[in-house]
Amino acid sequence: MTAPLTIAIDGPAASGKGTISRRVAAHYGLRHLDTGLLYRGVAALVRERGVDAQDAEAVGAIAAGMNEAVLARSDLRDGGIGNIASVVASHPPVRAALLQWQRDFAQGGAVLDGRDIGTVVLPDASAKLFVTADADVRAARRWRELSKTEDISYRRVLDDIEERDRRDSGRSTAPMSHAADADLLDTSEMTIEDAVTEALRLIESRLG
Ligand code: CDP
Repeated sequence: MTAPLTIAIDGPAASGKGTISRRVAAHYGLRHLDTGLLYRGVAALVRERGVDAQDAEAVGAIAAGMNEAVLARSDLRDGGIGNIASVVASHPPVRAALLQWQRDFAQGGAVLDGRDIGTVVLPDASAKLFVTADADVRAARRWRELSKTEDISYRRVLDDIEERDRRDSGRSTAPMSHAADADLLDTSEMTIEDAVTEALRLIESRLG
């Protein structure tokens, strides 16, 4: 029996990994899970219920009780949620509660994008990419999206991205890192079309 096709796509905020992942999933006819939404969902519940985001146990209990309906909330992409998400994502009980959910989703084949997919969630993925771009390029991309609906400065978006990069790479449990067997894709100077083409080329050469 051949193993199901699983593709792990990791990288920092606004690197292009979300768009690339959706397009890669469509190309191979696979389901796609944006795992950041799980952490954003926990963050939204934490904010709504007035729970202290630093309280690992209380936030872990919220993560354990999460359901799919939370992922459909319209506020998960708000500017403030990303930062709370990166705080709640640093707690081991939160990561433990969400790990099986992600693995179950990948059964039978899928594309998952996040921070620790190639290293922790799917270490045996068929192909892995680490998608990155310079922080100022990523901040400009994210600012263009957010400023359509929020009054937010470029400087604040850049500070937020840099703070999250530090927290996501520096935490002790499942830090964001480039898996040894992941191909690096730097999208700083690429259009999204070029990045998708290059991602598919790298994945094809891994699948051999
Ligand atoms: O879209 P963006 O890249 O800004 O963020 P996201 O992928 O939605 O993730 C939000 C936050 O969730 C990140 O800053 C991480 O702290 C956390 N996260 C994580 O720890 N592990 C994942 N697999 C995915 C997201």
